[in-house]
Amino acid sequence: MNILILGGGGREHALAWAIKQNPKCDRLIVAPGNAGIAAIAEVADIDILSGATVVTFCEENSIDFVVIGPEAPLAAGVADALAGAGILAFGPSAAAARLEASKAFTKEVCDACGAPTATWARFAEAAPARAYVRAQGAPIVVKADGLAAGKGVVVAMTEAEAVAAIDEMFGGALGAAGAEVVIEEFMTGEEASFFVLCDGEAVLPIGTAQDHKRVGEGDSGPNTGGMGAYSPAPVLTDAIAAQALGEIIRPCLAEMVRRGTPYRGVLFAGLMIENDQARLVEFNCRFGDPEAQVLMLRLGAQVLDLLLATAEGRLAEAAVNWADDHALCVVMAARGYPGSYGKGSVIGGLEALPQSSREMVFHAGTASRDGKIVANGGRVLNVSARGATLAEAHARAYAMVDRIAWPEGFCRRDIGWRAL
Ligand code: AMP
Ligand code: GLY
Repeated sequence: MNILILGGGGREHALAWAIKQNPKCDRLIVAPGNAGIAAIAEVADIDILSGATVVTFCEENSIDFVVIGPEAPLAAGVADALAGAGILAFGPSAAAARLEASKAFTKEVCDACGAPTATWARFAEAAPARAYVRAQGAPIVVKADGLAAGKGVVVAMTEAEAVAAIDEMFGGALGAAGAEVVIEEFMTGEEASFFVLCDGEAVLPIGTAQDHKRVGEGDSGPNTGGMGAYSPAPVLTDAIAAQALGEIIRPCLAEMVRRGTPYRGVLFAGLMIENDQARLVEFNCRFGDPEAQVLMLRLGAQVLDLLLATAEGRLAEAAVNWADDHALCVVMAARGYPGSYGKGSVIGGLEALPQSSREMVFHAGTASRDGKIVANGGRVLNVSARGATLAEAHARAYAMVDRIAWPEGFCRRDIGWRAL
């Protein structure tokens, strides 16, 4: 079959790499892709936020199946446009993608089904939000309701920080995403991510991961999109996974059915775990980046069968074949990230690195210029490896990092430290 993947980051490189290995995959196109993706698939530069453009592209290229990687096209209704044109696609409708696109919506869904999460309140104006913060005290968490590319959450350790965040959001710093603000109880514990597929009814867990959101070692410094990840997440034990499924994931998915907007796609639940209990931090309606890189490395070619079963409503018959192994991904970023950074520096040493089912460098933000790979984003490379133990995966990944010649880049040397 001919397959189109939408997106152009490390997540989409990992998806393309796994899907390409499945014999069902004939032609593989990724839009817009990147330099690493271009080495294994065709790339196409189209407007992936326009449902009409994507549908036309699919018709012109006889695409049988579309996998939507990032949240923006989902929130923009690209899955709806494809469904309307009779084209099979993986990814939720815009109505179901509100589980990521609106924090207040997700909180309402949690309240409706009793799913454990931080206590919260929503505000459309600054004055009552400030009063609420003063009444609750700090630490407290201030969130823009809408999609803000990872910049919409402020974990405020003082009331002053919380008030500043409120003023900034209502002042328009995040555009429409900050028109409404959710203020939440600060939760303590250890965070982990749980991934399940859902075809509207059946639910299939497909793995756990932990990422490192802070830019600096020891989890210090500003937040980023993620500086590394590993799978499985040891803190997400079988017992906690069962509790999260029973108390959070299944009830929320049932509530989506009750509302007439069943969820079809991958649901990424960010959990806070404390005293052997998980509470929901947030849902995402897509694979995580870089969590997808470690999941794809562990799942391999079967991913295509799982995504097809989800899109076709056959998930009840599907199963995951797990290797009892570990995967770890180190993000290499451009110096300056998550602040301002330069583009265009040349990355050497990539050609000599192994490319196998246990060692892969996925490209996140790269381009190719005069036959060389150059940095073209903040997060640039995802150096990923598998091993029988997490320590083995860790050693393999950093051995590859050390062979990459890129003075303008950096990485954290402590990915996986909690679990190691
Ligand atoms: P989110 O975009 O909702 O995942 O938030 C980004 C990060 O902020 C999360 O991964 C947590 O580390 C932190 N965070 C969000 N909500 C809370 C909360 N209620 N309590 C503590 N930390 C939180
Ligand atoms: N790595 C976190 C995310 O993809 O949202």
